[in-house]
Order: sequence, then C-alpha cells, then structure tokens
Amino acid sequence: MQFSVITLFPELVESVVAEGVVGRAEKRGLMELKCVNPRDFTEDVHRTVDDRPYGGGPGMLMRPDCLLKTIRSERERLGKAKVIYLSPQGKPLEQSMLQALSEEGSAILLCGRYEGIDERVIDLEVDEEWSIGDYVLSGGELAAMVVVDGVTRLLPEALGHKGSAIEDSFTDGLLDCPHYTRPERIEDLDVPKVLLSGNHQHIEKWRKKQALGRTQLRRPDLLQNTELNESDKVLLIE
Ligand code: ADE
Repeated sequence: MQFSVITLFPELVESVVAEGVVGRAEKRGLMELKCVNPRDFTEDVHRTVDDRPYGGGPGMLMRPDCLLKTIRSERERLGKAKVIYLSPQGKPLEQSMLQALSEEGSAILLCGRYEGIDERVIDLEVDEEWSIGDYVLSGGELAAMVVVDGVTRLLPEALGHKGSAIEDSFTDGLLDCPHYTRPERIEDLDVPKVLLSGNHQHIEKWRKKQALGRTQLRRPDLLQNTELNESDKVLLIE
C-alpha cells in the first residue's frame, strides 16, 4: 500500500511510521509513506502557501495553485490513486471505508491547515472528502494519520495474529467483547469462569453475548445497520 500525504507538517505525519504495527509494516515493505509539502511547489521568494479569503472573514486559506501542482505531481507518480481530502465536512469515517481503501493499493491524503483550502481544489482534484468525527482539529494531519493507521493494520500480514483484524470491533458491526489476561484474580475481580473452561463453543457464545449486550447498551445505533442471525438474536438482552 502506498500512501502519499500532502501536508505543511511532514514531520508530524511521518511519526506515524515510528512505532508499533504501522512502523513494522513499513519496515517489512507492506506499506510506504511519502509526505509531500505544498511549500515545495510555490514559486515566490517567501514560499507562500496561504492567502486571505475572498469576501472577508477571519483566518487564511491554503492557496489553490501550489496545492494543485502538488496533487497532480503525486497523481502522476502513483497512477490511479484516489485523492481524499480530510475535513470536518467530509463523510464520517467508518471501518468499511478503511477496508475498501486497504484494497486499493494507494491513496493520496490531502491535509488542510488554517481555515481550509480553496474550494476549487476540491472541485478539480478531490475524489472523496472524509471526516474523522464531529469536532474540529487544527488541521487534517491527525485525521490522515488515523486513516494510515486504520488501513495499514488491515493489510494482509500486518498483524501478527491472522484472526486479529477479523475479530475487531466493527468488522461484524458490533463492539468488541471484554478481554482478560493473567492474573486470574486482581484486587477482588476474577476472570469470568467460562474463559477458563477450555470449552470453545461456550467461550464463543459468551463473547458474542457480551459483544451484543455492550452494543445494545452503548451503541444501539450500530444494531440498526447489522443483520443478526437467529442464534445471535436469542443472545440479545430482553
Ligand atoms: N480536519 C479538521 N478537523 C477534521 C476532522 N474532524 N476530520 C477530518 N479532518 C479534519
């Protein structure tokens, strides 16, 4: 998977490959991250990337000229890569969007700063606009890092244990069940007995019931879009 991230703060975004699952995936050649700075595509002595908005108002916008040049040079380098602009106006990010992107092979992630970017960049070169939630960050970089992380861990071989990504929260439309490791008792809290039983059918049934119960209590909205089979419906809380 090849990621190109267009950002005024490449060092911030590059830190996503410093550690953990994403760092290992990069070292093993499963993914590649290149950050490109629109400042390198400016032509004036001050290397200006921002300007005042037409019509007035507070703050500055990113200029379209250097952004268009940056995007087009990355499109040329990567072939058929989609351009995704990260902004609070975008489509709310879901696991299925990360899964679909992980199957594309490449992506160009465009990060805004200041009050945003000139709308004509979106008209001309953006294929999709994604939001990571209903709150406003000071730029798209953290959102781009969320996308890079969420996609990379879905790449075949990125996680140590093959079942890990399949058993994630949201993969089956439900929240995850609780998990426990040693010791068997801590303070006055015991690991649920069933998990020590060695009976894998019972364990699977308990985990499903927990996942369903948590989803019902914490995120009932998720159950609206999830097809439950008859044996799962029996496990729902009355
Ligand atoms: N840039 C600023 N806020 C954002 C958000 N919530 N999602 C994606 N990009 C952003």
